[in-house]
Amino acid sequence: MSALSVKHLLGIKHLDRSDIGLIFSTADNFSTILNRQIKKVPSLRDITIANVFFENSTRTRISFELAEKRLSADVVNFSASSSSVSKGETLLDTVNNILAMKVDMVVMRHPHVGACHFLANHINANVINAGDGTHEHPTQALLDAYSIRKRHGRVEGLNVLIMGDILHSRVALSNIFCLLKLGANVKLCGPPTLIPKNIESLGVAVEYNLDAALAWCDVVNVLRIQLERQKDSYFPSLREYARYYGLGLERLNRLQKEITVLHPGPMNRGVEIDSRVADHPRHSIILDQVENGVAIRMAVLYLLASDPATF
Ligand code: CP
Repeated sequence: MSALSVKHLLGIKHLDRSDIGLIFSTADNFSTILNRQIKKVPSLRDITIANVFFENSTRTRISFELAEKRLSADVVNFSASSSSVSKGETLLDTVNNILAMKVDMVVMRHPHVGACHFLANHINANVINAGDGTHEHPTQALLDAYSIRKRHGRVEGLNVLIMGDILHSRVALSNIFCLLKLGANVKLCGPPTLIPKNIESLGVAVEYNLDAALAWCDVVNVLRIQLERQKDSYFPSLREYARYYGLGLERLNRLQKEITVLHPGPMNRGVEIDSRVADHPRHSIILDQVENGVAIRMAVLYLLASDPATF
């Protein structure tokens, strides 16, 4: 297989296992290139990509921009806070104006679930979801699974724990879809108030005791407490959260086994993760995730642009 089964990357839900395999093998090639002295390739020369961000981002926005530049694409950046959105312009008008300037691909982050699906139904360009509300963040899940595969040599058969604020996390849902498609066993852990009802129907297990969940897993993906999305009080205090659901070094040492620690960032150090774990030279692959993100995003951009039906 040499082409993706989709024209847009809106969510992992729409990919099949062979799509993910193709993205990983393409990322392997780009990863090699990124470690060369000359990191730039001409693959997307004459392709123009707009990064349209209606919500804050550090990693995803920079990673996409770097991936696009490494592929020699022309890049334009748009952020809602400094645009005419604040004057009342609609999402479709904003994007159509950008497209009128002959843009071929749009990478979009938006606070509303489904915003990128709406866009994909109304424009001709390829759309890549860089995070839509609490729904999906597909490139994050791809880079997480890719980083696990690099560390363990496989994803299939591994026990992967996703812990933290599952309810408000788009990373959680994309990770669940991606890991299950790749044959991992997935368990969720967090306070009952932050685990969505009936989430087991997706094929995951739920464990509320963090020590029991950690004893089960080979890999743990720690999600941050999304205070900006929490309208109610979901737990008594950050101190209590850190005590029961924080990944501390003592807790990790009690396991007497090696587990791999991921975090998509940004981290709340001292809340969901202890600094000594986040920076741990053996357990933590958090900065590897960031590095792998560029190769994964190069692969996604390259494969979508290579689809003969697209251009
Ligand atoms: N992981 C992630 O999406 O980080 P940013 O919000 O900084 O892009």
